[in-house]
Amino acid sequence: MKTKIILVGLILFIGVLVFQTIHPESAITSALADTTDVNPNGSSELSKLMRDMQKYTTDAKADIKVGKAPAAYPVGFDKVHTAKISDGVSKSEYYKQFADLYVMAVKNYATSTPETRVETYNNMVSSCLACHSQHCPGPVPVIKKMMLEVK
Ligand code: HEC
Repeated sequence: MKTKIILVGLILFIGVLVFQTIHPESAITSALADTTDVNPNGSSELSKLMRDMQKYTTDAKADIKVGKAPAAYPVGFDKVHTAKISDGVSKSEYYKQFADLYVMAVKNYATSTPETRVETYNNMVSSCLACHSQHCPGPVPVIKKMMLEVK
């Protein structure tokens, strides 16, 4: 009789364990929380910031085409200096200068007049390219396509 109760208890206990491995709550919630990340290993803080910067630029290009005024400088872009880079990748000794150049270029574009808009926009894209020629050359072809033709 006693062994039967222990056996039932053991089966229940194993059942709970099996159920937990099939439905690990934490895995489910973290999978739901990060469906937008293109990198299965998780992206660095800097990679995520880059995607915001890329979006700001493509939005800017679309705005210029329809004659819309630039969006204000996103203060979050100040983080280009401090955002953590992917493991195993490092910032060169010129990184700070490239980052300064980029921040300045975005501010110039954001405060441009209709006359200087295309020029300041292209300067902004050039500053992406300048840094990328030294760091992370992968996205260079994509960034080059962001340039606007000067009329
Ligand atoms: C100051 C240097 C610097 C500037 C300026 C810069 N980048 Fe980057 N970018 C990097 C570095 C370094 C990485 C790699 C980040 C990492 O792996 O943590 C990167 C990564 C990227 C990526 C890949 C992100 C991913 O999904 O992993 C894209 C796309 C990108 N940059 C686009 C741009 C665009 C567009 C601009 C201009 C609007 C720009 N970058 C300006 C340094 C820069």
